[in-house]
Amino acid sequence: MYTLNADVSQPKAEMYADLLPQCQGLLSDSRDMIVNLSQFSALLFNLLPDLNWAGFYLSAAPETLILGPFQGKVACVTIPFSKGVCGAAARTGDIQCIADVHAFPGHIACDAASRSELVIPLYFEDRLIGVLDLDSPSPNRFDEEDVRGINALCQCLITQTDWKWQFQA
Ligand code: SME
Repeated sequence: MYTLNADVSQPKAEMYADLLPQCQGLLSDSRDMIVNLSQFSALLFNLLPDLNWAGFYLSAAPETLILGPFQGKVACVTIPFSKGVCGAAARTGDIQCIADVHAFPGHIACDAASRSELVIPLYFEDRLIGVLDLDSPSPNRFDEEDVRGINALCQCLITQTDWKWQFQA
């Protein structure tokens, strides 16, 4: 049983620096993909403030993402690479930090409450595993410190997990 903490009164860089060893500890019990994706989404959803969804879309068919472990409201099951913020991250390989999802052409509104979004593409040995998707009900929720801190947590997830998924980017 883990007790995890994020002191959100700290500067963000320090908060993420404190989260990293907690993430490493949490993921050290298993290298199973489903276990670690589930634990990771719960870690972020419960510790980071002001999120309404945290989870994964996995590269499961050519040019298509499929819903993976997540926390939050039920979500759409498949996302083509050509659609949405998640599709843009998978297609381009670039992190998508969207201050106002209403201004993003093709944004997929799984939850009408979502106002800003951060999507980080995840790679293992040059293959696209999928994307981490975080949604917030607040506009402009994610800044450069969030991108840096959450990306470092994602690298921890990638190295501490065995990727046996049949990836098909
Ligand atoms: N908003 C995402 C779709 C996934 S949900 O937010 C959970 C997108 O535009 O890709």
